Formats: sequence, structure tokens, C-alpha cells
Amino acid sequence: MDSASPPSPPPAQASAAEASGASNASLRWRILRRALLARSASTSRAPEETSNDQQDKNDTNKISRKTSRGFDLIECHMLPISQSTKSHGDSSSRNDNIVECQNDVYVCYKLPCEGSPKLNLVYRREDSLELNDIVASNRYNIDTTGLVCCWPSEEVLAYYCINHSDMFRSKKVLELGSGYGLAGLAIAASTDADEVVISDGNPQVVGYIEQNISINTETFGQTKVNSMVLHWDVEQASEMNSSFDIIVASDCTFFKQFHQSLVRVVKSLLKPSETSQAIFLSPKRGDSLSKFIEVIKKNGLTCELIEKYDPTVWNMHKKYVSGDNRSWPNYNEEHCYPLLVRINSHSK
Ligand SMILES: C[S@@+](CC[C@H](N)C(=O)[O-])C[C@H]1O[C@@H](n2cnc3c(N)ncnc32)[C@H](O)[C@@H]1O
Repeated sequence: MDSASPPSPPPAQASAAEASGASNASLRWRILRRALLARSASTSRAPEETSNDQQDKNDTNKISRKTSRGFDLIECHMLPISQSTKSHGDSSSRNDNIVECQNDVYVCYKLPCEGSPKLNLVYRREDSLELNDIVASNRYNIDTTGLVCCWPSEEVLAYYCINHSDMFRSKKVLELGSGYGLAGLAIAASTDADEVVISDGNPQVVGYIEQNISINTETFGQTKVNSMVLHWDVEQASEMNSSFDIIVASDCTFFKQFHQSLVRVVKSLLKPSETSQAIFLSPKRGDSLSKFIEVIKKNGLTCELIEKYDPTVWNMHKKYVSGDNRSWPNYNEEHCYPLLVRINSHSK
């Protein structure tokens, strides 16, 4: 993605105890102060993540926010707003739900598959975290990482899915913690999936997913595409249980406090079939990925961890590590190279 410098870190979350003891106004100011402090800190040291769980602070502090770089697997360029909202030709196809906003940027992706379909995605402009985002993140017990950018693993996930389009034929697919939803949208645009549901637990993020679906509908062919707010800690409606053939997610495993609920979601929503599977792409990020795998196994699911799942991604990774390719300075294997975890729904 053609984003510029690394974004500022999301704010720390206020605890429930703090929230209950403070007036709304003073709480808002405290949150804002934290956000501003975090932003100023980010200018003087390596960019870092924050977590809403103090015990994970040490791990999440190490998370690289080098989002201006990526694997460059999918050709893309920035679009002026006027062009992106009229992307389907005549003005009659312009979607009136799209609110032109100076805080947003539009990126056009050309998918590397037959017909080279194009996807336009709306993203929040860098460094435009708003007070509303912080208030919402506290209210819904969710971080703001989904608004920060499209993280490198999401592009890798999209690329992987495009290159394995056969596995999606006639399937019902769910993307969890999708952020702006590049992978879910790419599945919808490049495969014959029956239905794709793109979800995130942050309602602010889901607002963007809705826009991104609505400006690309003509690209999806027969595939139905929907968005939903799906917070891993919240029980889903019973009709969703055992209804998905494939679940995908990228960079969602560094929240250790949500490991158990994330695995519960996968276990309850995947169809109990030998062919159902979840595909997670995540960098190691300290011990967070290995802890996630432990939780998968504790819950009676089987999984495999795959390091080399795509020759192109692997070769680029090797070049970044060796320094042969200098286009991703500070490339750090542990925080930048996503490993693939394949989870099967049938219990041992
Ligand atoms: C690092 S971002 C990754 C976003 C996107 N997959 C990408 O790689 O660009 C993590 C995402 O998980 C979502 N998330 C975090 N905790 C969540 C929870 N408990 N339930 C649902 N979504 C959650 C965040 O809102 C965010 O969009």
C-alpha cells in the first residue's frame, strides 16, 4: 500500500474501573491526553503498538508499526476522491452513501488474477485518529489498530487467497478482525465463493468495511458480500453457528487476552466438516503466536504452522532479511513475516 510514514500508535485503553469512577468529560480528556502523549512519544522512538491489557504490554510494545512498507504483492496506487467514487464509469453508479472526507484516502488495487479486477478501498488517512475513535474503542473494549492502516499481513492474506481461489468455490467465508477488509474483498472479487462476510469488532472500522463493499459491488459477480460487527468476546447469534466453510484472519493473534474467545469463535462458527478450515496469517510477535497455537490445541482443534506457504512471499522475505532488498528498512522477521496457521474444525 502506498502509505507514507508510519502512523502513531493507538491510545491505551481506560480500564472499566477508571471509567466508572470518572465523569464522561474528565474521562474524555484523560483519553485524549494519553493519545497525544502516545503520539508525541512515537516521534522520538521506534513506532510501537499498545494493548488494552497491561500484562501484554511488554509483548505489544515490541510490535513493529512499519506500515509504510509491505510485500508489494498487489499493484496499487492512490486515487483522488472524485475518481474513486466514480470508478464504475457513469455517475449513475456513484454510491450516494459515500461521504467525501478529507480524513480518508482511496487506494486502487489491481488484483493479480484473471481479468485483473480492480478494487477501490477507502482508508483513514494517517495520523487522523479522532476522539470518537478513542471513545468508541473504550466503549467497545477494542483497540484502534484496524483504523491505523492495512497491515502487511492483510495483503499477504489477500494474495494467498487469490492464488488459492479454487478452495473458495461455492463456500461461505468469514473474515475476522478484517480492518479495512482487503482480503475479504479480494476473495469476493477473485473467487467463486458463495458468500463472504467481512467482520471486525470495532464499529468504526465496520463503517469503512461497509463503504468498501458498497463501492466495489460490481466486482463481486455472483458472490454475496456482507459486513458485520463481530467482537470475539460477544456470543454470536445461534444461526451463525457451524455455518462457515472457511474463516480467514490476518494479524489478529497478538491480543493474548482475546485468544480464548477468538478460538471459541472459530470453533463455533466453522462447519464441523473435514474440509472446513481457518487460515490465520500472523507474525510471531513475541510469544503471542505460539500462545495462540497452545490455546487452539487446548480447545481440541488441530492446526499446523506453515512457514513457507508461498514461494514469492518467501523469496521477498529472504531478500528483506539479507538486505538484498532495501525497500523495507528495519524489516524484522519476528514482527513482519506472517506465518500461516491452518486450523481444522474437526476435533481430535
Ligand atoms: C492489527 S489489526 C489487523 C487488521 C487487518 N486484518 C489487517 O491486517 O490490516 C487487528 C484487527 O482486529 C480487530 N480486533 C481486535 N480485537 C478484537 C476483538 N476482540 N474482536 C473483534 N475484532 C477485534 C481490530 O479492530 C483490528 O481491526
